[in-house]
Amino acid sequence: MKDQLVSNFGNGVPTERKGRGASAASRGPRGRTIVLAALLLVVVALAAAGCASGTYPVDIFYEMHYQQSYGPHEPPVLSAPAGSVPITGVQLSTGENPFTPGESVLAAGEYIYSTNCVFCHGAQGLGDGPVLNTMKESFGYGTDSQPYTITPNLTDSYVVDQTDAGLYGWITNGVTVMPSFAKLLSVDDRWRVVTYIRACLIDDHDSCP
Ligand code: HEC
Repeated sequence: MKDQLVSNFGNGVPTERKGRGASAASRGPRGRTIVLAALLLVVVALAAAGCASGTYPVDIFYEMHYQQSYGPHEPPVLSAPAGSVPITGVQLSTGENPFTPGESVLAAGEYIYSTNCVFCHGAQGLGDGPVLNTMKESFGYGTDSQPYTITPNLTDSYVVDQTDAGLYGWITNGVTVMPSFAKLLSVDDRWRVVTYIRACLIDDHDSCP
């Protein structure tokens, strides 16, 4: 028994295997070169597969990234599931506008509007900016296949009747195809542009630029 254990776990590699090991060792350097070359081929093949542009011809590492999905602003804009409850948005907007219309606030508001909003909403806020026109003509927005309000008129009664906090909420959270400005504009800049919309696009305040 003791002899058997020694032969199984000790130095007792069967003579036959010892023999094979010895012959592999004698082929050593050449064998290693072949293995290395094969490995190199695999690496090159993987790199080539990864470098192919567009699709991924060899799907070695399956990733969720390569699924069917829609980018921001890409039709169709997905609606919230039925029965969803808002946790952000105009319904939940509160807060007081810290600004009253005055020259410097309205000049700043006009600057923010002309940098971030005019290309969609238009200079008078009528919703006729060139970007919205492109979205209609090239992507079919505002037609039956993409029936979103695509002529957002900031002088319409539903905007006029909205509180400043409501306007702030729309700008903060975005509205359908309109992006959220929460990360693009500071809190004060969002209130400034609200003040500008109210005083200069809806009314015609004396201090408008
Ligand atoms: C990509 C184009 C786009 C940009 C940029 C954009 N908007 Fe809009 N905005 C829209 C569209 C389209 C709607 C209407 C969405 C709807 O009602 O379906 C809208 C809606 C609104 C509304 C709600 C009232 C309404 O007419 O529906 C306000 C207020 C508003 N935008 C203000 C702004 C302000 C302020 C900026 C800049 C800080 C801005 N938007 C930038 C496209 C844009």
